[in-house]
Amino acid sequence: MKTIYFVTSNRGKLKETKTRLSEVGVNVVQKNLGYPEIQADTLQDVASFGVKHIQKRIDGPFILEDAGLFIEHLNGFPGVYSAYVFYSIGCSGILRLLDGVDADNRKACFRSVFAYGEPNKKPRFFVGECHGKISTQELGNQGFGYDPVFVPNGDARAFAQMDTKEKNSFSHRGKSLEKLVEFLKGM
Ligand code: IMP
Repeated sequence: MKTIYFVTSNRGKLKETKTRLSEVGVNVVQKNLGYPEIQADTLQDVASFGVKHIQKRIDGPFILEDAGLFIEHLNGFPGVYSAYVFYSIGCSGILRLLDGVDADNRKACFRSVFAYGEPNKKPRFFVGECHGKISTQELGNQGFGYDPVFVPNGDARAFAQMDTKEKNSFSHRGKSLEKLVEFLKGM
Protein backbone atom coordinates (compact mmCIF):
# COMPACT_ATOMS: atom_id res chain seq x y z
CA MET A 1 0.00 0.00 0.00
CA LYS A 2 1.36 3.41 -0.99
CA THR A 3 1.66 5.97 1.81
CA ILE A 4 1.32 9.72 1.27
CA TYR A 5 1.61 12.47 3.86
CA PHE A 6 -1.22 15.01 3.95
CA VAL A 7 0.14 18.27 5.32
CA THR A 8 -2.88 19.74 7.07
CA SER A 9 -4.23 20.56 10.50
CA ASN A 10 -7.82 20.31 9.26
CA ARG A 11 -9.46 17.07 10.44
CA GLY A 12 -12.43 17.53 8.11
CA LYS A 13 -10.22 17.68 5.01
CA LEU A 14 -8.23 14.74 6.33
CA LYS A 15 -11.35 12.60 6.77
CA GLU A 16 -12.68 13.39 3.29
CA THR A 17 -9.30 12.68 1.69
CA LYS A 18 -8.62 9.49 3.65
CA THR A 19 -12.11 8.18 2.82
CA ARG A 20 -11.53 8.48 -0.94
CA LEU A 21 -7.85 7.53 -1.15
CA SER A 22 -8.28 4.44 1.05
CA GLU A 23 -10.68 3.11 -1.61
CA VAL A 24 -7.81 3.06 -4.11
CA GLY A 25 -5.22 1.59 -1.74
CA VAL A 26 -3.49 4.80 -0.71
CA ASN A 27 -2.73 5.26 2.97
CA VAL A 28 -2.97 8.93 3.99
CA VAL A 29 -0.92 9.96 7.02
CA GLN A 30 -1.51 13.38 8.55
CA LYS A 31 1.56 15.59 8.89
CA ASN A 32 0.86 18.60 11.06
CA LEU A 33 3.84 20.56 9.79
CA GLY A 34 2.24 23.90 9.04
CA TYR A 35 3.27 26.21 6.24
CA PRO A 36 2.82 29.92 5.56
CA GLU A 37 -0.46 30.64 3.75
CA ILE A 38 0.60 33.66 1.73
CA GLN A 39 -1.84 36.37 0.73
CA ALA A 40 -2.17 35.69 -2.99
CA ASP A 41 -4.69 36.15 -5.79
CA THR A 42 -5.31 32.47 -6.45
CA LEU A 43 -5.60 29.26 -4.45
CA GLN A 44 -2.93 27.70 -6.68
CA ASP A 45 -0.42 30.41 -5.72
CA VAL A 46 -1.09 29.68 -2.05
CA ALA A 47 -0.66 25.92 -2.61
CA SER A 48 2.45 26.44 -4.72
CA PHE A 49 4.15 28.47 -2.02
CA GLY A 50 3.19 25.81 0.54
CA VAL A 51 4.75 23.06 -1.59
CA LYS A 52 8.09 24.87 -1.82
CA HIS A 53 8.14 25.30 1.95
CA ILE A 54 7.24 21.66 2.69
CA GLN A 55 9.50 20.08 0.05
CA LYS A 56 12.58 21.01 2.06
CA ARG A 57 11.17 19.57 5.27
CA ILE A 58 9.70 16.20 4.32
CA ASP A 59 11.18 12.87 3.29
CA GLY A 60 8.49 11.41 1.04
CA PRO A 61 5.51 12.07 -1.24
CA PHE A 62 3.00 14.51 0.19
CA ILE A 63 -0.17 16.41 -0.62
CA LEU A 64 -1.59 19.67 0.62
CA GLU A 65 -4.81 21.44 -0.29
CA ASP A 66 -6.11 24.97 -0.36
CA ALA A 67 -9.80 25.78 -0.66
CA GLY A 68 -12.04 28.82 -0.73
CA LEU A 69 -15.66 29.90 -0.94
CA PHE A 70 -16.48 32.46 -3.65
CA ILE A 71 -19.84 34.25 -3.28
CA GLU A 72 -21.15 35.88 -6.46
CA HIS A 73 -23.17 38.66 -4.79
CA LEU A 74 -20.03 39.67 -2.84
CA ASN A 75 -17.83 39.72 -5.98
CA GLY A 76 -16.07 36.50 -4.99
CA PHE A 77 -15.53 37.33 -1.32
CA PRO A 78 -14.30 35.65 0.89
CA GLY A 79 -12.34 33.68 -1.80
CA VAL A 80 -8.67 33.50 -0.89
CA TYR A 81 -9.51 35.09 2.47
CA SER A 82 -11.94 32.29 3.41
CA ALA A 83 -9.91 31.01 6.37
CA TYR A 84 -9.56 34.43 7.98
CA VAL A 85 -13.20 35.31 7.36
CA PHE A 86 -14.37 32.00 8.84
CA TYR A 87 -12.19 32.58 11.88
CA SER A 88 -13.44 36.15 12.31
CA ILE A 89 -17.17 36.14 11.40
CA GLY A 90 -17.99 32.46 10.75
CA CYS A 91 -21.10 31.10 9.04
CA SER A 92 -23.37 33.51 10.89
CA GLY A 93 -21.36 36.46 9.55
CA ILE A 94 -21.77 35.19 5.98
CA LEU A 95 -25.53 34.87 6.52
CA ARG A 96 -25.62 38.43 7.86
CA LEU A 97 -23.76 39.73 4.79
CA LEU A 98 -26.46 38.14 2.61
CA ASP A 99 -29.37 39.19 4.79
CA GLY A 100 -32.36 40.09 2.59
CA VAL A 101 -30.65 38.86 -0.61
CA ASP A 102 -33.11 36.74 -2.61
CA ALA A 103 -32.56 33.12 -3.65
CA ASP A 104 -31.47 34.01 -7.21
CA ASN A 105 -28.59 36.09 -5.90
CA ARG A 106 -27.15 33.65 -3.39
CA LYS A 107 -24.98 31.75 -5.88
CA ALA A 108 -21.59 30.62 -4.64
CA CYS A 109 -18.78 28.35 -5.67
CA PHE A 110 -16.35 26.31 -3.61
CA ARG A 111 -12.91 25.75 -5.15
CA SER A 112 -10.20 23.32 -4.14
CA VAL A 113 -6.61 22.87 -5.29
CA PHE A 114 -4.63 19.80 -4.29
CA ALA A 115 -0.88 19.90 -4.72
CA TYR A 116 1.13 16.69 -4.95
CA GLY A 117 4.82 17.01 -4.18
CA GLU A 118 7.94 14.97 -3.65
CA PRO A 119 11.34 16.20 -2.51
CA ASN A 120 13.22 17.62 -5.53
CA LYS A 121 10.35 17.08 -8.00
CA LYS A 122 8.12 19.51 -9.84
CA PRO A 123 4.73 19.65 -8.07
CA ARG A 124 1.43 18.74 -9.74
CA PHE A 125 -1.87 20.55 -9.12
CA PHE A 126 -5.44 19.25 -9.30
CA VAL A 127 -8.42 21.59 -9.17
CA GLY A 128 -12.08 21.06 -8.48
CA GLU A 129 -15.09 23.28 -8.04
CA CYS A 130 -18.65 22.95 -6.87
CA HIS A 131 -21.40 25.43 -7.67
CA GLY A 132 -24.29 25.99 -5.31
CA LYS A 133 -25.91 28.61 -3.15
CA ILE A 134 -25.73 30.07 0.33
CA SER A 135 -28.66 28.96 2.49
CA THR A 136 -30.69 31.43 4.56
CA GLN A 137 -29.92 29.62 7.81
CA GLU A 138 -27.36 27.17 9.16
CA LEU A 139 -28.30 23.58 8.34
CA GLY A 140 -26.89 20.32 9.73
CA ASN A 141 -23.98 19.54 11.99
CA GLN A 142 -21.62 17.37 9.95
CA GLY A 143 -18.51 18.45 8.07
CA PHE A 144 -16.65 21.64 8.91
CA GLY A 145 -16.17 25.30 8.04
CA TYR A 146 -18.87 26.76 5.81
CA ASP A 147 -20.60 23.38 5.33
CA PRO A 148 -23.78 24.46 7.22
CA VAL A 149 -24.45 27.34 4.79
CA PHE A 150 -23.51 25.81 1.43
CA VAL A 151 -26.10 23.90 -0.62
CA PRO A 152 -24.60 22.32 -3.76
CA ASN A 153 -26.53 22.39 -7.04
CA GLY A 154 -28.36 19.10 -7.51
CA ASP A 155 -29.41 18.67 -3.89
CA ALA A 156 -31.57 20.54 -1.38
CA ARG A 157 -29.31 19.75 1.57
CA ALA A 158 -26.31 21.68 2.85
CA PHE A 159 -22.94 19.91 2.94
CA ALA A 160 -23.30 19.74 6.74
CA GLN A 161 -26.38 17.54 6.25
CA MET A 162 -24.40 14.94 4.25
CA ASP A 163 -22.04 12.18 5.31
CA THR A 164 -18.47 12.21 4.00
CA LYS A 165 -19.12 10.07 0.91
CA GLU A 166 -22.17 12.09 -0.09
CA LYS A 167 -20.30 15.36 0.32
CA ASN A 168 -17.39 13.98 -1.72
CA SER A 169 -19.79 13.04 -4.53
CA PHE A 170 -20.71 16.74 -4.95
CA SER A 171 -17.88 18.74 -3.53
CA HIS A 172 -14.98 20.77 -4.91
CA ARG A 173 -12.62 18.54 -2.90
CA GLY A 174 -14.32 15.39 -4.18
CA LYS A 175 -13.63 16.60 -7.73
CA SER A 176 -10.01 17.61 -7.19
CA LEU A 177 -9.51 14.32 -5.35
CA GLU A 178 -10.76 12.36 -8.39
CA LYS A 179 -8.08 14.03 -10.53
CA LEU A 180 -5.47 13.24 -7.89
CA VAL A 181 -6.67 9.60 -7.84
CA GLU A 182 -6.26 9.30 -11.63
CA PHE A 183 -2.74 10.73 -11.36
CA LEU A 184 -1.79 8.35 -8.53
CA LYS A 185 -3.17 5.35 -10.46
CA GLY A 186 -0.93 6.27 -13.40
CA MET A 187 2.26 6.41 -11.34
P1 IMP B 1 -8.22 26.45 3.78
O1 IMP B 1 -8.12 25.62 2.55
O2 IMP B 1 -7.94 25.65 5.01
O3 IMP B 1 -7.41 27.73 3.69
O4 IMP B 1 -9.75 26.82 3.89
C1 IMP B 1 -10.24 28.13 3.88
C2 IMP B 1 -11.51 28.21 4.69
O5 IMP B 1 -12.56 27.59 3.99
C3 IMP B 1 -11.42 27.55 6.06
O6 IMP B 1 -12.09 28.35 7.00
C4 IMP B 1 -12.16 26.26 5.89
O7 IMP B 1 -12.82 25.88 7.07
C5 IMP B 1 -13.14 26.58 4.79
N1 IMP B 1 -13.35 25.41 3.96
C6 IMP B 1 -12.44 24.79 3.18
N2 IMP B 1 -12.98 23.70 2.59
C7 IMP B 1 -14.25 23.64 3.04
C8 IMP B 1 -15.30 22.71 2.83
O8 IMP B 1 -15.17 21.70 2.13
N3 IMP B 1 -16.46 23.00 3.45
C9 IMP B 1 -16.63 24.09 4.23
N4 IMP B 1 -15.69 24.97 4.49
C10 IMP B 1 -14.49 24.74 3.90
